[in-house]
Amino acid sequence: MDVARRAEADPAFRADVIAGLSAPTRAIPARWFYDRRGSELFEEITRLPEYYLSRADRALLERHSGEVARIAGAGRAVIEFGSGSSAKTPVVLRAVSPSSYVPIDISGEFLRDSAAELQAEFPGLAVLPVEADFMHPIRLPEAVEAAPKLGFFPGSTVGNLVAATAVDLLRAMKETLGEESMLLIGMDRIKDEAILLKAYDDPAGVTAAFNLNLLHRITGELEGTIPIQAFRHRALWNDRLARIEMHLEAQCDLAFTVDGIGFSMKAGETIHTENSHKYGVRDARLLLKAGGWEVVEEWTDADETFALILAKAEPRRFAP
Ligand code: AVJ
Repeated sequence: MDVARRAEADPAFRADVIAGLSAPTRAIPARWFYDRRGSELFEEITRLPEYYLSRADRALLERHSGEVARIAGAGRAVIEFGSGSSAKTPVVLRAVSPSSYVPIDISGEFLRDSAAELQAEFPGLAVLPVEADFMHPIRLPEAVEAAPKLGFFPGSTVGNLVAATAVDLLRAMKETLGEESMLLIGMDRIKDEAILLKAYDDPAGVTAAFNLNLLHRITGELEGTIPIQAFRHRALWNDRLARIEMHLEAQCDLAFTVDGIGFSMKAGETIHTENSHKYGVRDARLLLKAGGWEVVEEWTDADETFALILAKAEPRRFAP
């Protein structure tokens, strides 16, 4: 039983957790939140009144997808990065009416379920799921190779990455999508700290459960002995780096093992589990530009809560 369980654990998960807990500043990449339970908890977060991001993003898509379709033109294949449950995808598919839709996600199980649901909703559409890590350039299915592409990256997922990594990702996306492609991306704006903090530390405790679920995942998949009840969810606004940080804070001195390796933490020390960067108008443009994308059009709501940005791949440049 134990042996079978250990064999199942993703070696990349194990490596990231061991390295992350051994580092002087403990940190585990946010992508590991999304096991089945984590994905369910995230879906629950998107329905919280305090978590404005999903509603703002969806409203912008509903309002402006028609314009996106007009600017992007007919016949583009839609490629979604980190599709998860594909909750906002129908809005875009209805407006753009592409010939093919390629959802990309690292969580194969979740990917296949939501691809099947979308296929049922859009019977005439070729739904071609790809299980892959979108941080690297991806070979797309042959059926879409020739078509011009519209990348779709909603929800401010890019905010999980520090600038240098975000630029790597944007470049990888450009390589995946090709020189003639466009990208429709959601980016969360910098706003009042109190609003941000409530969105990442809701009174119902769903975000806390989402964060703490990572410890359950480590305990289950990597034979951890973590005293989970001794940890507390912490969300803070780092103004210098314009980001919300989530941490798991030890409430007392404690020790545990993961995969047989011993770790200890003092009361108040944390494991840094997520960054959610927020962007001003020019920050967003500069980040996209650095990744090889030129903003074509951008939309925001009346309170400038969130931005929906349509960009096009910049041609290779030989002069400044
Ligand atoms: C899915 C990365 C956009 O950073 O807001 C939600 C994840 N973390 N609540 C975000 C998340 C805590 C979310 N993204």
